[in-house]
Amino acid sequence: MIRAKILGTGAAVPKRILSNADLEKLVETSDDWITSRTGIRERHIVSEGEHFSDLCTRAGELALKRAHVKPEELDMILVGTISGDMPFPATSCLVQRNLGATRAAASDVSAACVGFLYALHLADGLIQSGKAQNVLVIGGEILSRYVDWTDRNTCVLFGDGAGAVLLQATRGDHGILGSIMKANGSYHDFICMPGGGSDRPANDPKSIEERLPYIKMKGNETFRVAVKAMADVSQELLSEQGFTHEQVDHFIPHQANVRIIDAVSEKLKIDPRKVYKNIERFGNTSAASIPIALDELVREDRVKDGDMVLMTAFGAGLVWGSVLLRW
Ligand code: ACO
Repeated sequence: MIRAKILGTGAAVPKRILSNADLEKLVETSDDWITSRTGIRERHIVSEGEHFSDLCTRAGELALKRAHVKPEELDMILVGTISGDMPFPATSCLVQRNLGATRAAASDVSAACVGFLYALHLADGLIQSGKAQNVLVIGGEILSRYVDWTDRNTCVLFGDGAGAVLLQATRGDHGILGSIMKANGSYHDFICMPGGGSDRPANDPKSIEERLPYIKMKGNETFRVAVKAMADVSQELLSEQGFTHEQVDHFIPHQANVRIIDAVSEKLKIDPRKVYKNIERFGNTSAASIPIALDELVREDRVKDGDMVLMTAFGAGLVWGSVLLRW
């Protein structure tokens, strides 16, 4: 059976760090509130002149280098994001140009914080069907450009970054074993940016006046649905593939809130030592959070041959999903 296997990972975050103390100067908040309610201490934020496509390119270059795959060997580049350089063309096309991936098709995948897992799910399908041999999957975001820096409910949460994996077709039992993606558009207003699309374009002065091209979020409602959704879909995937929670070696949940991570891990009965957390240093980097975490785990040499890795995420749409792989 053909499987999609991760041969290399990479990540890139902006140099500039915004601490909770910095945020105390912007809005009425405190380090104590942010750390106790979210687990976040600092986040990386782009500076003026930094481009999202450059972060994606850097992450992609690292993944390719570590996989010993040349850009010309790529069949497809998928970028999971909701904060591309421009509404169009797709950021993946800019990455394709930057990398010199002359043979690769390129497309963006819009699934908010689940963008990386949705892209992985699609790439796995392309590889299994024989339509692609090498796929570069990137998850990234610079939501700092869409955050309302006067809204304390959201501005303390997000950070910028990108992560990438190189997937290659392989035969055997290593690689992606299964993936399940879900959506429920009835909750589309839980997290959204109502302006900047064709409904209320960014070129409509009223859009700015009404502060529409900014992230709006019903945090509390999102929290409740997120925990159940991620736990349920992860359990469904484990059962579908014939595994139990004890067989998971590394659990990488989306890094949105440490209380959400703990609640989901507890529901799944996963040993806390197997749960990866880096939210303290990066905040919620949306589609970048899982590939950045995976890259750190790999760089720390903690993922061994044959290890079972379970990843799950949740985000605006609402969308959610899980991917299970054998390293
Ligand atoms: N500093 C101080 N106080 C604050 C802050 C802040 N930064 N933000 C909110 N508060 C206040 C509120 O105003 C409220 O005060 P009130 O009781 O006087 O009205 C109080 O703190 C409690 O607010 P809650 O919203 O109930 O706080 P909660 O414990 O739910 O935490 C949070 C809020 C962190 C947003 C949490 O609900 C959460 O993490 N939700 C999930 C977010 C998420 O996962 N989003 C998905 C990904 S985003 C994407 O897809 C792009």
